[in-house]
Amino acid sequence: MAHVVFVTRPLPDPGIELLARMGFEVRANNEDRPLSREELIAGVQGSDALLCMLSDRIDAEVLDAVPSLRVISNYAVGFDNIDVASARQRGIEVTTTPGVLTDATADLAWALLLSATRNLGAGERMVRAGEWTGWAPTQLLGEPIRNQTLGIVGMGAIGQAVARRAQGFDMQIVYFNRNRVAPEIETALGAEFVPLDDLLKRSDFISLHAPLNEQSRHMFDSRAFSLMKPSSVLVNTGRGALIDEAELVNVLRDRRIAAAGLDVYEFEPTITEGLLSLDNVVLAPHLGSASTLARGDMVRLCCENIAEVLAGRPAVTPAPG
Ligand code: GLV
Ligand code: GLV
Repeated sequence: MAHVVFVTRPLPDPGIELLARMGFEVRANNEDRPLSREELIAGVQGSDALLCMLSDRIDAEVLDAVPSLRVISNYAVGFDNIDVASARQRGIEVTTTPGVLTDATADLAWALLLSATRNLGAGERMVRAGEWTGWAPTQLLGEPIRNQTLGIVGMGAIGQAVARRAQGFDMQIVYFNRNRVAPEIETALGAEFVPLDDLLKRSDFISLHAPLNEQSRHMFDSRAFSLMKPSSVLVNTGRGALIDEAELVNVLRDRRIAAAGLDVYEFEPTITEGLLSLDNVVLAPHLGSASTLARGDMVRLCCENIAEVLAGRPAVTPAPG
């Protein structure tokens, strides 16, 4: 009898057809909206595998409701939506999609860095509102990027790809990571490992790529913001809750930092009160991995992980830890 895979959301090409071609019985939510908790638990009943989104919270309650599950394949590199320890206690493997979305996410971090620094959001709003009266010597002046210091928080694959792009801007790179990366990577990137407080004090730009967990939640709080330069720009394509978003609103409003570019939000998809009315923040709708190449490769990797685990082999890309 074919193994059953439940998919919580329509997927881009190659889509759920790939699972059918691999010989699985596919059950899927065909509506392009997140399932409620009740719908998710009902839909996944009797499945061997769950292919889920970062917006699906998979905790002990869900796991207990579906004793048939053997693998949870998260359509994301982040996995803070899944209680991995509880899953593994129950013998359920959890997998993610590292690697395939590295370039797409690094590109988006740079898009936000450039947009926030050069006032692209405010400028676009002005043009669309019909309020632009023409070029002006004093209009929407931004800050330089070349020769400035970029601080990278979380020097995994995506942080490193962001650093590589910074070399084209002749930037100094400092980074903070739970573990220091290999010396040859530091040398190739020209990146200096520093304590977080030093990074906060020295950086003109800070880009966040650390995983969200209990240690990293609200890493950017009022204390951290107080160490940052008033001219600095903060970019977050990691997870919203790395930042205390209510405090970020205060800091941006009072110009204690210059600008921010956000792709992710603490209470996603709810946007914290005050953020929408600020002109010095660029807001993207969680587009980090949203390239056709990355999203297609994520489908392939999710399916491969499911196939390997259900065949009794090790996952290709198990969630770390
Ligand atoms: C996106 O945010 C991901 O974790 O893949
Ligand atoms: C966190 O900073 C990590 O990626 O180790």
